[in-house]
Amino acid sequence: MNILVTGGAGFIGSHTIVELHNAGYSCIIIDDFSNSEQSVLEGIEKLIGLKPKTYVGDCNDSVLLNRVFSEQKIDGVIHFAASKAVGESVEKPLKYYRNNVAATVTLLETMLVNKVSNFVFSSSCTVYGQPLELPVTEQTPIQPANSPYGNTKQICEEIISDTVVANTDFKAVSLRYFNPIGAHDSVLIGELPKGTPANLIPYITQVAAGLRPALQVFGDDYPTPDGTCIRDYIHVVDLAKAHVAAINLLVNNKADKPYKVYNIGTGRGNSVMEVIKTFEEITGKPFSYKIMPRRDGDVTAVYADVSLAKNELGWQTEKTLKEALIHSWNWQLSLK
Ligand code: UFG
Repeated sequence: MNILVTGGAGFIGSHTIVELHNAGYSCIIIDDFSNSEQSVLEGIEKLIGLKPKTYVGDCNDSVLLNRVFSEQKIDGVIHFAASKAVGESVEKPLKYYRNNVAATVTLLETMLVNKVSNFVFSSSCTVYGQPLELPVTEQTPIQPANSPYGNTKQICEEIISDTVVANTDFKAVSLRYFNPIGAHDSVLIGELPKGTPANLIPYITQVAAGLRPALQVFGDDYPTPDGTCIRDYIHVVDLAKAHVAAINLLVNNKADKPYKVYNIGTGRGNSVMEVIKTFEEITGKPFSYKIMPRRDGDVTAVYADVSLAKNELGWQTEKTLKEALIHSWNWQLSLK
């Protein structure tokens, strides 16, 4: 079966291509390379022995999308392509509504016209905001988004839900990711942040590699055991495998409803200081950080209840935080 992977040259997309291949699927990529590199395709090729057919462009381009759907027999779509920097989304909201919302509409329209009915969407735990209960289940109420980026994820989930209601054959899964980290253990693919990393782990590895000054820890006065924020850090390969499970569910018609939403995390929360301590164990060296004021928009703690994904997708994480950090560090060292 052929799966179209938008954003297939990105961090999560590239790891998902490898896991789809390992599960027997063929992949076609659409990527505009705005936040990825051609070298990712070489890494994929080394891992799976072939370079997936790749169309360069973005999902707002309906002419391109129609060409892809007419040239390829597509059984399902996994839609990663999106802009993902929370801070940038506040400064450039229309870029986010264009790239994340409008592009998803164009992609869904093209799927309907071409009678492709299996859709997996990259959503985010950001939809829960600061949850009133922990761990969060899929029933935990969604909070008003605190950034345009978060809003695009909420809007897209609603668009997909409405599309499923209006089109009897159409089926979809939204995966609400927690914090993806790590890299492939081969270090042939990993995260390639452009400029200063906004996220914790690539920042940590760049500090340890001597590329950046000390990490700024944003706040140590949160109501958590050590005062720093708690997140659910999931290895990107475990996350990639969740997409295979979601596509399996759709193409095998195993879902009990045409639209399903799953939390995709480890089920464990770790604080920023715990991440730093674990990283120090790996390198065997003290890590340089300084405590700074809180960062706007950060929630105190969020981690997943993953029992629904376990029960219905037959999926759960296999890798630990330490393994994920080892792979992130090895990836960083491989870039030198
Ligand atoms: N952090 C620091 N210093 C840094 C970077 C991060 O202390 O230089 C802290 C943050 O304050 C937070 C934790 O590390 O407590 C994790 O921060 P990340 O930026 O790595 O991740 P977030 O949890 O903020 O962001 C993630 C996803 C987003 C998503 C968001 C929803 O990366 O795509 O969750 O809250 F929108």
